[in-house]
Amino acid sequence: MTGGTGLIGKHLSRKLKEKGYNVLLLSRSSSRGNSHSVYSWNPEKNEIENEAIQRADYIIHLAGAGMSDRRWTKMRRQLIFDSRIKTCGLLFDKVQESGIKLKAFISASGTGYYGTVTSEKIFSETDPPSTDFTGEVCRRWEQSADRFQQSGIRTVKIRTGIVLTRNGGVLGRMLPAVRLGVGSALGSGRQYIPWIHIDDLCNIYIKAIGDKTMTGAWNAVAPEHITNREFIRSLAKVLQKPFFFPAVPSLLLKLLFGRMADIILKGSRVSADKILSAGYKFEFPYLENALKDLFTKR
Ligand SMILES: NC(=O)c1ccc[n+]([C@@H]2O[C@H](COP(=O)([O-])OP(=O)(O)OC[C@H]3O[C@@H](n4cnc5c(N)ncnc54)[C@H](OP(=O)(O)O)[C@@H]3O)[C@@H](O)[C@H]2O)c1
Repeated sequence: MTGGTGLIGKHLSRKLKEKGYNVLLLSRSSSRGNSHSVYSWNPEKNEIENEAIQRADYIIHLAGAGMSDRRWTKMRRQLIFDSRIKTCGLLFDKVQESGIKLKAFISASGTGYYGTVTSEKIFSETDPPSTDFTGEVCRRWEQSADRFQQSGIRTVKIRTGIVLTRNGGVLGRMLPAVRLGVGSALGSGRQYIPWIHIDDLCNIYIKAIGDKTMTGAWNAVAPEHITNREFIRSLAKVLQKPFFFPAVPSLLLKLLFGRMADIILKGSRVSADKILSAGYKFEFPYLENALKDLFTKR
C-alpha cells in the first residue's frame, strides 16, 4: 500500500489486518513504521525496495501530495500530478520488471474527476472527466492506473468523495469553527458535498480486493446528497452547537485559498448507484448517523 501512512491508509491498513491480510506499506520514510511492515521507496529516484514488490499480491495506490493542503502554485500543481501519476508509472514498471502475478491494482481517485462545479446533475461513472484542474488530475491518475488493466491485471479506481473521519481531513478543518459555536455555510452553501464515512470507504476498498467482478471506476460516496449548508448544520447539531448565518463570503475564501477555494465553493451530486447495484450495503448512508458515530460514540 502506497500512502499507507496517511488518513485513509492508516484506517484501511488496520481494517485489512483485522481481516487477516498481511499489509506492507511503501513509504518515503521508513521510520514512519507502525505495526505493519514498512518498505521504503523514493519516487524521485525511481527506487522501490525490491522485496516490497516481490511480496505483493495486490497493490493499493493511495500516495499523493494533499490536494487541499496548500495553495495551487505551479510547483504545487506539478507535485500533485507527479506524486500520483509518476509514482503509478514507477509501480507499473517495477511490477513488469519483477515478473510477479499481481491479482489486482487498486488506485485512489477522486470525485474531482467530474470537476469542481455546482449543478443539478448527478454524476455517474460513465460521465466524462472535467477539463478543470481536479478533473485533469483524476483523468491522468486513472489513465496511469489503466496501464495495469491493459497488461491484464484487474484494475479498480475508487473515485472518493470527502472522507469523514474523527480527526484530520476536510472535516478536521471545519470542526474548530463549529466547536467554537461559529459554524456557518461556506459561500452560497448550496454546493453539494459528496461525502463518505471512513468505514464505508475502507469496506469498499476491501470489497474491491475480494470481488473479482469489480473493475474500472467506482464512485465511493454515500447515497445521501447533502449541500454545504446542510452539512454544517448537521455537524453543529451533532456537536450541540449553534449554526450561524450569514455564510462565509466566497470572496474571503478566494482571497484565503486562491483557485483552491473552488473545491470548497463548488460541488455537485455524485451517484452511489453503481456500488449499491454491486451489492454494497453502506454502514452510514445518512450524514447525521455518520457524524454521530464519529463524534458521540467513541
Ligand atoms: N481524504 C479525502 O477526503 C480524499 C478524497 C478523495 C481522494 N483522496 C485521495 O486518496 C488518497 C489518500 O488520501 P489521504 O487523505 O489518506 O491522504 P494523506 O493523508 O495526505 O496521505 C497521503 C500519503 O501519500 C504520501 N505522499 C504525500 N506526498 C507525497 C509525494 N510528494 N510523493 C509520494 N507520496 C506522497 C504520504 O505517504 P509517505 O509519507 O509515507 O510516503 C502520505 O501519507 C490521496 O491520493 C487522495 O488524493 C482522498
